[in-house]
Amino acid sequence: DSAGVALTAPGMERVAVRKKAGRLANLVQDIERDPMPDATVGIGHTRWATNGVPNDTNAHPHTSRDGKVAIIHNGIIENASQLRLDLQTEGYRFVSETDTEVAAKLLGKISDKIIEETGKPDLFKAVRRLARMLEGAFTILATDVRQPDIVVGARHDSPLVVGLGEGENFLGSDVAAFVAYTKRAMEIDQDQAVMVSADKVVVSDFMGNIVPDPKTYTVDWDASAAEKGGWDSFMDKEIHEDPAAVQRTLLGRLDENGNINLDEVRIDEHDFKAIDKIIVIACGTAAYAGMVAKYAIEHWVRIPVEVELAHEFRYRDPILTPRTLVVAISQSGETMDTLMALRHAREQGSKVLAICNTQGASIPRESDAVLYTHAGPEVAVASTKAFVAQITAAYVLGLYLAQVKGAMYRDEIAQTLESLKDMPRKIQWVLDTQTKTVQEAAEQMVDAKSFLFLGRHVGYPVAMEGALKLKEIAYVHSEAYPAGELKHGPISLIEEETLVVALATVEKLFDKTMANVREDKARGAHVLGVTTEDFAGEIEKYADRSLIVPKAHPLLQPSLTVIPLQAFAYYIALARGCDVDMPRNLAKSVTVE
Ligand code: F6R
Repeated sequence: DSAGVALTAPGMERVAVRKKAGRLANLVQDIERDPMPDATVGIGHTRWATNGVPNDTNAHPHTSRDGKVAIIHNGIIENASQLRLDLQTEGYRFVSETDTEVAAKLLGKISDKIIEETGKPDLFKAVRRLARMLEGAFTILATDVRQPDIVVGARHDSPLVVGLGEGENFLGSDVAAFVAYTKRAMEIDQDQAVMVSADKVVVSDFMGNIVPDPKTYTVDWDASAAEKGGWDSFMDKEIHEDPAAVQRTLLGRLDENGNINLDEVRIDEHDFKAIDKIIVIACGTAAYAGMVAKYAIEHWVRIPVEVELAHEFRYRDPILTPRTLVVAISQSGETMDTLMALRHAREQGSKVLAICNTQGASIPRESDAVLYTHAGPEVAVASTKAFVAQITAAYVLGLYLAQVKGAMYRDEIAQTLESLKDMPRKIQWVLDTQTKTVQEAAEQMVDAKSFLFLGRHVGYPVAMEGALKLKEIAYVHSEAYPAGELKHGPISLIEEETLVVALATVEKLFDKTMANVREDKARGAHVLGVTTEDFAGEIEKYADRSLIVPKAHPLLQPSLTVIPLQAFAYYIALARGCDVDMPRNLAKSVTVE
């Protein structure tokens, strides 16, 4: 909702700051019109408002009283009000409503104190002192005109990663920020500070103890993967990457002995065998992937699986034992709600396995085992290819547990994996044959005020995902229900021309779902049906329009059923003139609670 930069170079009296409300393009245009000075270091920030409305003043960077120090900040500083009052009594004035400005003024004060004490500036030390005084979640980056060759960062609960270049170094919330310049990255752990110059990176804890050997890794995708590459939008591109996302997530899972492999496992086989309950923690789309996992894992492994929104789980005193496996699903690997829930689970002695799309992110780093979804970077805010990859990874996990616990025969596991390997081809078929019909349906329904998504069995979580996509990017009210639930209340919402999207891809429940569709039609609903090839003729008798997906093993069907729903939301949003990649009020990575 706003963006800004601060630049520092030798000889500057004050940090050069420019910031603008609105899209990043506003800032870019402003700087093109009125260029900023050349500089040796810079910090830049895009804001998602937490404290104070989005305007030029509240945008970051914020500066110290004398303008010599500037900071940018992600997170929420919980003791900002008290710190602000303390500074106000000392005569400090504030121009913005943000917690970040409080940290900036305080950092200025600490920096002056250090100069007084030692005779020279020491931004690294000042940032560490600041970090020890702040409560809440933060990643801070700071620059000081008196040390124009360094940027200093510190993190507590919010993400920060270093990019290691040749004669230049970078800091970012995630690797996408700098992957165009370098693929070598360094992890910054919880409660660590980092000082970066063109040729040096020094990491310490908040007390100043140097971390001798910070972990580095190489990013496994190219900058081009995070570019539009000829597509009109990232969302369209990413929907078309659904088949590849599934394929890459399955790659190399089966070794020559027919055993399934995860990416990182720090749980011994004995503990895995002893697991008697699974709790999936996740938010939004990732939680719907977890609901799909429940159906498959309970069926294959025969142990109970609960799915819980991470922010609810954390504060509810859930029953956790060393025999509970908590599965944290997250595309970004930085969702604060999920991270906090994961930490809670580990404190209670449970093991945590992460299903994550981002290498080196906080969630996989803090988990006991990791299964990466190799979907490649997802840029559009609405999650699409990550969802199909998450479901795929959850299937792999289910089969892995079935293997470890001996709940399925080896050939049965291998056969299911084979069916999974056929999913990319089937998804491609949906994209190739159904897109035109989806587009026509969307254009016909573009003015609808409200949608009702219905599904049964594994179709239910897919219905939830379809409804979420539509709310998120097209700003249309949409709800999802298990089709059988309608008669227990929501059917009273149905009136002439209510739009119902009915998912009838679970073969054994086709007739029951059609009975529900007939009930809706009898009350005036307009129905878009989704079913498998075998029922293509049947569904036409009930629905006003229909979309077809190939038939698969019933538990694997969600990977196919969701594809036309992603495209449907995309085309409705497009027809309504919405920005499909950057819907209002949303951020890609939700790093606040
Ligand atoms: C929906 C969407 C969100 C995310 C949720 C969790 O399209 O993108 O609902 O799924 O915020 O994010 P991750 O998976 O990064 O933890």
